[in-house]
Amino acid sequence: PHDPEKLRDLAVAVAAEAGELAAKGQEGITVLDTKSSPTDVVTEMDRATEDLIRERLLAARPHDAILGEEGGGAEGTSGVRWVVDPIDGTVNYLYGSPDWGVAIGAEVDGVVVAAAVHLPVHGQMFDAVLGGGSRLDGRTLRAPDRVPLDRALVATGFGYLPERRLQQARVLTGVVQHIRDIRRGGSAAVDITGMATGRYNAYYERGLHIWDWAAPGLVASEAGLRVGGLHGGPPSNDLVIVARPGLYEELDALLAPLGADTDG
Ligand code: IPD
Repeated sequence: PHDPEKLRDLAVAVAAEAGELAAKGQEGITVLDTKSSPTDVVTEMDRATEDLIRERLLAARPHDAILGEEGGGAEGTSGVRWVVDPIDGTVNYLYGSPDWGVAIGAEVDGVVVAAAVHLPVHGQMFDAVLGGGSRLDGRTLRAPDRVPLDRALVATGFGYLPERRLQQARVLTGVVQHIRDIRRGGSAAVDITGMATGRYNAYYERGLHIWDWAAPGLVASEAGLRVGGLHGGPPSNDLVIVARPGLYEELDALLAPLGADTDG
């Protein structure tokens, strides 16, 4: 009853319009509010972009549910839930960096089946359908082959709470000696979709929310990457790991004893 390709097409159209709105508003943007901590900022454009996305999705599909990062959700009865991060990489956005994006995923009965991730300043549109592959600007994506851990460029991110960051810094000290190098790009959507294009070989982060990984994670998994949690479980707030199979297990085995899924 819910055609994933139609859901993908709607996600792409809405992400394109939302990205254009957000890009126009980037210059001169200031902090509107803070959330979980003083470093967890929200701008007026996070809210305006989420409002636009909600309006467009509900105009097209009034009975769907929406979960939005900025709280602009909707209840629904159709079995479809949209998982929306209007501006992923808000701190980058605030500082004039190009590395931020709009992420829209569609779940049917709790499974992400369609996704769009738009990086407006890069002019890139990623999309994916479960079982149907992922694309960048319409071209099929296949992630580069795995490399061994000691040749992997690994991306990660930090949460907003000081005690969590302290533990994340400890984990990092146990990771950097075993890998090619580390990157902290500032947007999970950019990091995770970027793995499908070979920008990084692996990614891990504790404390993500479902809107950070739902759409980018489908783009990555449909490009041949494994997206999960520790010990091969599902991705969760505790830990998200993304890598080619094989490298995934190597990184998993490194992260587990370091307590990467804990706050120390
Ligand atoms: C954040 C970014 C960042 C990651 C944080 C996320 P937001 O999303 O993806 O890279 O490290 O965990 O919360 O708050 O900018 O949408």
